[in-house]
Amino acid sequence: MTMKIPVVVAGVTGKTGSAVGRGIWAAPDMDLIAGLSQQHAGQDLGALWGEPGMTLPLVPHVADVEADYAVLVDFTEPESAFVRLSEAIERGWDIVVGTTGFSAEHRQALAHHVSERGVGAAVIANFSLGAWVAERLAREASRYFEAVEVIEGHHATKKDRPSGTARVMAQILGETLKRPADSIPVHSIRLPGMVAHQAVIFGSQGQMITIRHDVHDRTAYVDGVLAAVRRVHQLGGRLVSDLGEILDPPADPL
Ligand SMILES: NC(=O)c1ccc[n+]([C@@H]2O[C@H](COP(=O)([O-])OP(=O)(O)OC[C@H]3O[C@@H](n4cnc5c(N)ncnc54)[C@H](OP(=O)(O)O)[C@@H]3O)[C@@H](O)[C@H]2O)c1
Repeated sequence: MTMKIPVVVAGVTGKTGSAVGRGIWAAPDMDLIAGLSQQHAGQDLGALWGEPGMTLPLVPHVADVEADYAVLVDFTEPESAFVRLSEAIERGWDIVVGTTGFSAEHRQALAHHVSERGVGAAVIANFSLGAWVAERLAREASRYFEAVEVIEGHHATKKDRPSGTARVMAQILGETLKRPADSIPVHSIRLPGMVAHQAVIFGSQGQMITIRHDVHDRTAYVDGVLAAVRRVHQLGGRLVSDLGEILDPPADPL
């Protein structure tokens, strides 16, 4: 029998981390060996999730996990994530990161550390397949339509603005249109009732195209994260930020 992939999830009590953590827990080829939590450290995740038959103590730090190797999946917030991810990389663990809002310096430092230690890193602003398809469609549309704006909407408690997904979209559009990413207007809405929504609107004489993606619940991110957990070890020394690089089958280049 092949070994299961040991996985530690940081942010496992949060909105996205709990959906992703449940997906990992249910995956037959993965072993959820620990959950990291500040607020709920010392409590049992099975009790918190209301899952009879599950016992998994929550611990506050990477250092509290005894495993020699694990994939650290992180859905938290960027300041604490940077420290946590650095510790995991130092231990030779691979990392799968959904947390958004890292500074350019922290991103560069992570990439450098990953390369130095020869571990794999998937740092992906949006793990939903729909968002990735929307990026590819927008890349294609921007070859022919120059005037474009992005509108993104998220739940009222989202910390960063614009969203990581919208920043990536602006970069993609900027590359194709040969303009700086910050010249692409991005409008952010934060409202209760929203989960994660984005529309990329292209206008031209007498016509418009809208490429829209809506996440109605956070299970939308699970398949992408599972794909990343399965592939990340093979990335040895590389930090990838395009979901297409870890999909099976791999994406055709556009
Ligand atoms: N890449 C993607 O596909 C994707 C999709 C959705 C969301 N996200 C990103 O994922 C992150 C989490 O979003 P969310 O909506 O799930 O947030 P959330 O519900 O507020 O959950 C955040 C979690 O982070 C933990 N946390 C907060 N501050 C911490 C700290 N200082 N140290 C350690 N842990 C801390 C909290 O748990 P404890 O207090 O128990 O530690 C909490 O469970 C955000 O950056 C968001 O943009 C990414």
